[in-house]
Amino acid sequence: MTNTAENIIAPAPLDVAAIKADFPILGETVYGKPLTFLDSAASAQKPAAVIDAERDLFEHYYANIHRGVYKFSQDATEAYEQTRETVKAFINARRSRECIFVRGATEGINLVAQTWGRANLQEGDEIILSELEHHSNIVPWQMVAEEKGAKIKVIPLLDDGSVDMETYASLLSDRTKMVAVAHISNSIGTHLPVAEIIRIAHAAGAKVLIDGCQAAPHEKIDVQALDADFYAFSAHKVYGPTGIGVIYGKEELLDAMPPWQGGGDMISTVTFEKTTYNDLPHKFEAGTPNISGGIAMRHALEYVSAIGFDRIAAHEADLRDYATEQLVGSNSVRLIGTAEGKGAIISFVMESAHPHDIGTILDRQGIAVRAGHHCAQPVMDRFNIPGTVRASFGIYNDRTDVDRLIAGLKKVVDIFG
Ligand code: ALA
Repeated sequence: MTNTAENIIAPAPLDVAAIKADFPILGETVYGKPLTFLDSAASAQKPAAVIDAERDLFEHYYANIHRGVYKFSQDATEAYEQTRETVKAFINARRSRECIFVRGATEGINLVAQTWGRANLQEGDEIILSELEHHSNIVPWQMVAEEKGAKIKVIPLLDDGSVDMETYASLLSDRTKMVAVAHISNSIGTHLPVAEIIRIAHAAGAKVLIDGCQAAPHEKIDVQALDADFYAFSAHKVYGPTGIGVIYGKEELLDAMPPWQGGGDMISTVTFEKTTYNDLPHKFEAGTPNISGGIAMRHALEYVSAIGFDRIAAHEADLRDYATEQLVGSNSVRLIGTAEGKGAIISFVMESAHPHDIGTILDRQGIAVRAGHHCAQPVMDRFNIPGTVRASFGIYNDRTDVDRLIAGLKKVVDIFG
């Protein structure tokens, strides 16, 4: 059936009031004002289901995992490994052993750079990054490139904040071994054409790592449809706990990679003469992990999945457009990053005030935004600015939050002109 206006059914709108009620912190006031939380791109708030999962573990069955013969250890292990099954479905991995638990996306990218990178990069090889990467998808590659004598090449940004795909194609060659790019830019919201980036990279024989931190809370991730070699995300941006995240890798790549950190759980046998390593995923999970975070992550992923990504995407696109319309109409604000189809992240500067001053004035009105370079200094350099104010939306935001932001910015104009 072809899609026509008649047979496309718009996703049901989100019941934001009900969602807000699931997040205890959103009932708090700040300086006596209701909280308008517009910093979910930095870290999202947590629903009661996530908070309760951690409390339930500690109150009822906490023990170390993968090590105990007794009931609590087995129950905790089962709950932790159940999360791996949820993660597998969440990103549509082929097998749960392709989902390695790490501290977060930063650690996941470092793991790939230090294991795959050290084993596969040689002098003169090239790694392609984009100009809009977060520092966590730049520095790990610089570290391994320096060690191995490899070179970093950068896909430049066009003026609207999209990546220059023509230049990208021209940067690829048989020297390219890795392309590492964001799915959605954390600083200016650009949604990269990652399926196309991966297709072209594979045609040149390169592997691709996607930093999915800003996509995982907002759209359905399908690593098989994308054909991503590696995909990283952090639970804390998907309404889950801090200190836990996932690096997905294709099984054949992970199997061939040497381990990274040594310690308990990642071994099969140890003697002073020789150590043999455990199977995936444990080969990359040395030491006692973040047990409570791992268990609670499942509840976060189930929570957003139950709402449905088609509904989440439609809701957040509405907030982005509603905010953009009003900011474009204001002559005191300049938007940074206006690429077609961008995510629910609005970055802007004002002639009259520094981003930190704007952030502080908004804070006094109960509005939480991020101000600064957003760990993406090359993006700020590209647009010749010290930083931006960034408002980022999540499932618990509604048009009232946008209205409060706009009213807050009027106060900034009153003070700074
Ligand atoms: N990467 C996070 C942000 O964009 C911390 O704010």
